[in-house]
Amino acid sequence: MAVLEITDVKKTYRSPTGERQTIIDIPKFAMEEKAHVALEGRSGSGKTTFLNLIAGILKADTGQLLVEGTDIQSLSEPSRDLFRAKTIGYVHQTFNLLQGYTALENVELGMMFGRGLDKEYAVDLLGRVGLGDRIHYYPGQLSVGQQQRVAVARAMANHPKLVLADEPTGNLDPHHTHEALSLIRGICREQGTALLLVSHDDEVLQEFENRQSLADINLAGQEASTA
Ligand SMILES: Nc1ncnc2c1ncn2[C@@H]1O[C@H](COP(=O)(O)OP(=O)(O)O)[C@@H](O)[C@H]1O
Ligand SMILES: [Mg+2]
Repeated sequence: MAVLEITDVKKTYRSPTGERQTIIDIPKFAMEEKAHVALEGRSGSGKTTFLNLIAGILKADTGQLLVEGTDIQSLSEPSRDLFRAKTIGYVHQTFNLLQGYTALENVELGMMFGRGLDKEYAVDLLGRVGLGDRIHYYPGQLSVGQQQRVAVARAMANHPKLVLADEPTGNLDPHHTHEALSLIRGICREQGTALLLVSHDDEVLQEFENRQSLADINLAGQEASTA
């Protein structure tokens, strides 16, 4: 079964001057279970918008987004939040860790909104991303690379079927970029999780055999590039 199946999805934004701009117009896009796909697109081309539509964080104007066969856009808000927490892991460029909580608590909170607390697994995940000795550190006490590892552990907290990674290495230096990608890909492979990563960075894209360009699947690509 496809983990992701997108048909005729459109998303427009209203510009500050009131005109509607079409950012996403994707007739077809699909991903097989366990696939790793890198989607290339320059800054402003709609990458984050696309991932937020898949996660059901943003509402599409039209079209269907099936995640594991469920039309995420058609769910009520509470069911959508729960479905997202259980099915999708999200690694943001800026990590979005809760600053007032330790690494372990950040992972545990992710579980509490999803499949339920499993403290042992939370500790295990942090060990697997190399932070076994940092589980009680707050994000502010961790290096950027370590914070990114916490974000990866949190994304895996509910055994997701699909991980969305939004320029996950955008804030790392080149050495840590390769390391972080290996980590994300390794842990997804281990868990049989599909990975959709978006980036504008050639170094990152080169690491994937399955690379696609957002401009190739998005009919709004040309329009957005002049915006
Ligand atoms: N809430 C919003 N209202 C209006 N325009 C937006 C909004 N969010 C994003 N945009 C515009 O949509 C385009 C795509 O943004 P985004 O998806 O963040 O691109 P990327 O992640 O590829 O850099 C940009 O031109 C941006 O200005
Ligand atoms: Mg973005």
